[in-house]
Amino acid sequence: MSEKVVDLKIEDLAFDGKSVARLDGKVVFVNGGLPGETVRAKIVRNKPRFSNAVLLEVIDKSDLRVPAPCPHVSYCGGCTWQDLDYNSQLRFKQKQVNDCLQRIGKFKDLQIDTIIGAVELFHYRNKMEFSFNVTEDGDFTVGLHKRGRFDEVFNLEKCYLQPHVANEIVAYVREFVHRHQIPVYDVRNHTGFMRFVMLRMAKRTGQVMVNIVTNMGDLPYQQELISELTEKFPEISTIVHNQNAQKSNIAVGEVERVLYGTGFIEEKLFDYTFRIRANSFFQTNSLQTETLYRTAFDVLDPQRSDRAMDLYCGTGSIGLLLARHVSEVIGVELVPDAVQMARENAELNNVTNISFWEGDVKDFLRTEEATAQPFSVVVVDPPRAGLHPKALKRLLEINSPKIVYISCNPSTFARDAAELVTAGYRLEQVSPVDMFPHTMHIELVSRFERSPENSDV
Ligand SMILES: C[S@@+](CC[C@H](N)C(=O)[O-])C[C@H]1O[C@@H](n2cnc3c(N)ncnc32)[C@H](O)[C@@H]1O
Repeated sequence: MSEKVVDLKIEDLAFDGKSVARLDGKVVFVNGGLPGETVRAKIVRNKPRFSNAVLLEVIDKSDLRVPAPCPHVSYCGGCTWQDLDYNSQLRFKQKQVNDCLQRIGKFKDLQIDTIIGAVELFHYRNKMEFSFNVTEDGDFTVGLHKRGRFDEVFNLEKCYLQPHVANEIVAYVREFVHRHQIPVYDVRNHTGFMRFVMLRMAKRTGQVMVNIVTNMGDLPYQQELISELTEKFPEISTIVHNQNAQKSNIAVGEVERVLYGTGFIEEKLFDYTFRIRANSFFQTNSLQTETLYRTAFDVLDPQRSDRAMDLYCGTGSIGLLLARHVSEVIGVELVPDAVQMARENAELNNVTNISFWEGDVKDFLRTEEATAQPFSVVVVDPPRAGLHPKALKRLLEINSPKIVYISCNPSTFARDAAELVTAGYRLEQVSPVDMFPHTMHIELVSRFERSPENSDV
């Protein structure tokens, strides 16, 4: 197919970081451009229902465009919207929630609350993962992936989503690996050693964890790394080494060794302290997590007499905060490390009316713990894929009068919401919360209710 250069008027934003235009009535997805802009682009792929185009030049700029501080903004796969003004980002996120609920969930005339914006627009992330990558000239890079490229990583100079010290730690680790000529992992042939440097940085306590993820084996020059890192960066409270021989390019280790400190950092949300390890889930924007949880509790309106489930509970944060307001909570989580942290967190915060069940939600919902006595409230906070069909079916069998569904993916949420409503629940409230400025990600909190005469409580 010949690659055609065309001028396009951008109409909308799509949720994979692309913009949307039309050419002769057919949708064209462009890898740049903002609504209202005229761009010159090259059509690179023609499908029956849409085409893909690569942005060549913005001919007529939109008023929504703002200067982006990041030096990597034009190619980084992290932030796609740093050059879109923040109010417009919020407007597009709100529209995305509306569109998904109408198009996928078939909801009509649903009132959706106005999206709650973020407290901080930059430096808000408490966790970042940077990949090592071998370059064609035999050298290496360490940083973030280029947009849409699993095999291309650019050297990170500065990331505005993380605290300044994190940029310095990444630069230091790069220099260390260079100096000692430690082999870097090659994703194309799965050889080499250094795979990722992952940082966790608690917003409230200032503690920093450095997690070096490698192929299997001991870390060369380990003592030098520990002493240099801790001397140069007093914020570092723990260093861990995760070893991972799997081909899939994820920064999670099969074997973890604590090289320095306790192996965890502590973060504070409200007046609670949470311990977080390298591989356990914790919300990545600490300040906005308080907004998210506050919204969830407003939507939930917990009562002292409530018995609650916290499904997909991670390190237990929602359940632990909820326990103060209800009679009893059971948290359910698949990752053993996270469950261990959840139990430690319960002890650390003197919460005694909570217990945790380790395993798959769909299995838990068939156990006696889940079915013997009714639960008046169920909180679900699944990963992006939403509820597994069996988990959804069993959740309906549990028949709780109130379900609070927290979602990080409006599409799968809309799908699951339609199922809940078909089964007799009413969708009473949807409140979007922006946890990730400059990215296309959206979080939302919702409440489903069924009439007491139709529930088991
Ligand atoms: C979006 S996180 C929510 C964590 C927690 N609610 C919070 O606010 O920190 C989803 C969690 O679900 C867990 N998870 C994923 N699939 C699961 C499953 N099938 N059963 C139980 N937990 C699961 C993940 O390990 C992760 O901790």
